[in-house]
Amino acid sequence: MLILAIETSCDETGIALVEGTQTAGGFVFETKKAALLSQAALHAEYGGVYPTLAKREHEKNLPILWEQFKDEAFDAVAVTHGPGLEPALWQGITFAQKIAEERNLPLIPVNHMEGHLISSLAKPASADFSFLQKAVIQSVQLPVLGLLVSGGHTEFVLMKEWFTYELVGKTLDDAVGEAFDKVARMLGLPYPGGPEVSRLAAQHRATASNLQARCKAWPSGHERPESADYLPSLLKLPRPMINSGTCDFSFSGLKTAALYALRDRGGIQALSADEVAAFAAELEDAIADVLVSKSRRALEQTGAKTFVIGGGVAANTYLRTKLQELIQKEFTDVDFRLPELSITGDNAIMIAQAALARELSGIKTTIPAEQIKASGSLSIAKK
Ligand code: KG4
Ligand code: ZN
Repeated sequence: MLILAIETSCDETGIALVEGTQTAGGFVFETKKAALLSQAALHAEYGGVYPTLAKREHEKNLPILWEQFKDEAFDAVAVTHGPGLEPALWQGITFAQKIAEERNLPLIPVNHMEGHLISSLAKPASADFSFLQKAVIQSVQLPVLGLLVSGGHTEFVLMKEWFTYELVGKTLDDAVGEAFDKVARMLGLPYPGGPEVSRLAAQHRATASNLQARCKAWPSGHERPESADYLPSLLKLPRPMINSGTCDFSFSGLKTAALYALRDRGGIQALSADEVAAFAAELEDAIADVLVSKSRRALEQTGAKTFVIGGGVAANTYLRTKLQELIQKEFTDVDFRLPELSITGDNAIMIAQAALARELSGIKTTIPAEQIKASGSLSIAKK
């Protein structure tokens, strides 16, 4: 089955043509063509995604990308119908409706978060292919616990049966990506803040460990290296709700604590570049501590056999390492699926994969083109 998928939920415009087949233990997805235009640089001026601008950009970009697909044949059109920014979602939906109607094809609405989750379960088909060329989903043991972490979402979902999700925990206020982006903005870093915080944090950790090593190795009679003490252990941010006894999160307090910590130190202009990097490392540490601790709890509570993370924040190297350590040390029987870095950001391939997985499983998801609606707060879980 060949699906043309469209993604416009946030600031990436994506179209992809993916062929899916069912195998004994799963699915094979072969990307025939994929195109993506990012608006991130435009939104950076506003320090975040600006909905009216996003809508206008999708409207402009969709016909440009479509040029590459208009001569292709396919069996159905899939489109993200939520969650996301409604004006942005509508652009993708009306475009998909037009194609489906013109070609008399079925239309498949896809939940953006299911796109992240399903694509994160997939692996490259073999060493001969990149994930984006050919991916497979194979031997997934249920139940699957998914940690979905993006700019708008932070939640644990449990999949006991394919495509049916129970909510295990969620953020009570801000999403984790939002915490990265907002604190990054306070630190004077460009949007999207997550990758910037991550880069500075890694830089700080490398400097800190180099200096510590040099201090330890300091032979007598030689010039003393710059002390590791100078490195600014300038603050300790809170780990919100880490001991709440639930799998829920809260990140707004972290944002406020960061704001006060900065104010107490005379504002961002009073911090040196090293101090900004140390601040970024503490932010990333605080977030990783909470996510690791809650993942431990969620894994214990659900007895999940597979653990998968998905969404933009799943690209965070430090978080990936910390979660890998948790599984290797404490949950040796759990199959941990880390998404390929090429698929963690928003794209249309993941939307096609989710639509194909459902269709190939015999779950009827097509709806009459005129009935599809954008749903900004669409939830993946049934409760
Ligand atoms: O899934 P996504 O691309 O868009 C939404 O559906 O929201 O996620 C975007 C979020 C942004 O908040 C961005 O800062 C964050 O993912 N992000 C990261 C990293 N890469 C992207 N956060 C932390 N570390 C990263 N390496
Ligand atoms: Zn996303």
